[in-house]
Amino acid sequence: MTASKQPSAAGGPAPRAAQSAAPRPPAAVGAAAASRLADEELYERSIGEPEDYWSERAAAALSWDTPWERVVDCDFAAGSASPSYAGWFAGGKLNAAYNCIDRHVAGGLGERRSLVFAAADGGIEEFTYADLLAATTRFANVLKSRGVVAGDRVILYLPMIPELPIAMLACARLGAVHAVVFAGFSSQALGARIDAWGARVVVTSEAGWRGGPAPGLKGEVDRALAAGSSVETVVVVARRADGDEDHARLVAGRDLWWHEAVAAAGMAAPCACEPLAATAPLFILSTSGSAGAPKGVVHAVGGYLLYAAETFRHVFAPGEGDVHFCAADIGWITGHTYLVYGPLAVGATTLLYEGAPGRPQPDRLADLIVSQGVTSLYTTPAVVHAFTAAGRGWAAAHPMPGVKIVATVGDPLSSEAWDWCRSQFGAGCPVLDTWWQTETGGILLTPWRSETGEPLAGSRPYFGVAPLVLRNDGRPADVLERGNLCLAQPWPGMMTGIWCDADNVARFRASYFARFPGLYYTGDQAYIDEDGRFHIEGSSDDDVWVLGERLSSVEVERALLSDAKVVETAVVGCPDPVKGEGICCYVVLRDDVEPSDALREKLAQHVGEVIGPFAVPDRVHFVAALPRTRSGKMIRRILRKIAEGDPTDLGDTTMLADPSIVTDLVHETRPQTTQAEARR
Ligand code: WTA
Repeated sequence: MTASKQPSAAGGPAPRAAQSAAPRPPAAVGAAAASRLADEELYERSIGEPEDYWSERAAAALSWDTPWERVVDCDFAAGSASPSYAGWFAGGKLNAAYNCIDRHVAGGLGERRSLVFAAADGGIEEFTYADLLAATTRFANVLKSRGVVAGDRVILYLPMIPELPIAMLACARLGAVHAVVFAGFSSQALGARIDAWGARVVVTSEAGWRGGPAPGLKGEVDRALAAGSSVETVVVVARRADGDEDHARLVAGRDLWWHEAVAAAGMAAPCACEPLAATAPLFILSTSGSAGAPKGVVHAVGGYLLYAAETFRHVFAPGEGDVHFCAADIGWITGHTYLVYGPLAVGATTLLYEGAPGRPQPDRLADLIVSQGVTSLYTTPAVVHAFTAAGRGWAAAHPMPGVKIVATVGDPLSSEAWDWCRSQFGAGCPVLDTWWQTETGGILLTPWRSETGEPLAGSRPYFGVAPLVLRNDGRPADVLERGNLCLAQPWPGMMTGIWCDADNVARFRASYFARFPGLYYTGDQAYIDEDGRFHIEGSSDDDVWVLGERLSSVEVERALLSDAKVVETAVVGCPDPVKGEGICCYVVLRDDVEPSDALREKLAQHVGEVIGPFAVPDRVHFVAALPRTRSGKMIRRILRKIAEGDPTDLGDTTMLADPSIVTDLVHETRPQTTQAEARR
């Protein structure tokens, strides 16, 4: 990987060239140059004539019941990202389930595999597109028989089992709005979402599996509904945890078993796909929960589906017989877009894995990739780190040569992880660091496919995406200068609002459009390098203020990761009587490395050498694991609280892949002589 140049701090000395809005094409030769030039031209056109570009794409990629009248009703520059924001393809009608299933069956692909389910016990279940059509039709009929109509909200509180995508698509078929609530959430978090979104139906399972059996999902639903709610029907998948003797108890009149309901008379009858306004909501999904209160982000049928299909096709380039594996949980946006809607919209084969990646050992994931012939993998840097932590011997015993494309999301991909992927997967396998958010619906920044053969750091905007990096005063940052990442033009995958918050319009505007008028503010920090590539430096909330200097935690993490003994790390601020805020590092070491005070000091000094003396960490804590959601996203809020010495009020930790690691983190954060004190 080429070493990425380090940016200057925001507002630091101005480097040479001024930032250019459109990225420059990198130098290249021959066929590669021609295809890069084609990408460059296409990009220019997508930005210069967005309506023509997206209109063509929408006509080519999706089937419409009624053509749209207007391509987009949202002009950031005119400041109309406001109550008048109507979204994409107004006047048009289509159905997402029809586009993801029926049209493929009608087009002769009924026998192609749509979904391959890998159960936690090792069992494999395959669904062709025809099977998926039959299963979603039956469940849509069940929902209909319970009075569900277009616009109703249906909560899906399910583990990673086929019933989850089937229920999503059944809702989409009727025009009901699905709201997947990650099965790791507690009854309280579930109840808050049921109330906020006014759900009529909850679909759940007796138990789930999250790196081990997670019993009692149905019990959580009962507790969430105990105080009364809008829910009229609870559908329960009969799936017990190993050793659980008794089935969950059903509440008469409210609850039904999934298997009985779908087998009932009449449920196999055809169920028409409701033609829906392109601007109608397809689903609600909370943002990851790394911030405080969850926001119910709304995505609409037309724009979202088009963007999911287009970005999936561009990034993962599925071919005949390929198998795509997105290792994220469907409870988060990555699973929605790149496990379900993107792959199915283009008629690809998508793998659904019931267990958590990396548990109990990374072997399970590697074996699955090989045994199922996975050709493209979408995962997180955390999963790659779990692979690298297993050591060289493990890597040699687990080659994954069939994988042709790997992409990651959620955190920056370290150059060590990048190198590891290049050696472990198929020859010349591109490794793409992609950036996006729940709100953006799909990938916004990714290396272009025409340049993915080269080792490179940083990403480019996907077609139609116009990112800028701004200083705090709104002026463009210079090349290599860190600033606020914003978007200057709407794109079809963009959220259409926040669900039913009493002041949802105000909240929508305040969250995304108030900071820099006329622009969408991502809340992330980034810089642009000399080749026009974007480098994400993490969310603005992740900054540490040291002696009045803003330091990106990602920068410190990158420095720590450049020591081969470090597998994973997270850096947060901690109170410091002298500096205001100190730098607190949580470090996961390689299995074969012994933690010691000497190593603590060595790592701290190493950071000082890489970044500068002001950045020498104050605390280095060696821990077994970091607090991540199952989608791999780091929850720094929890680390910050622990580092502040306030572990009694950590807020909701149920979104963590493994909430039990919190005890270890608190224990390891016991007062130690800080590196700074030791040196004083
Ligand atoms: C962060 C996940 C660095 C970022 C699809 C963003 C990243 C937030 C990257 C969104 C990346 C995502 N490098 N940071 N490649 N990708 N992020 O809503 O802070 O769960 O704003 O969506 O994750 O997280 P969310």
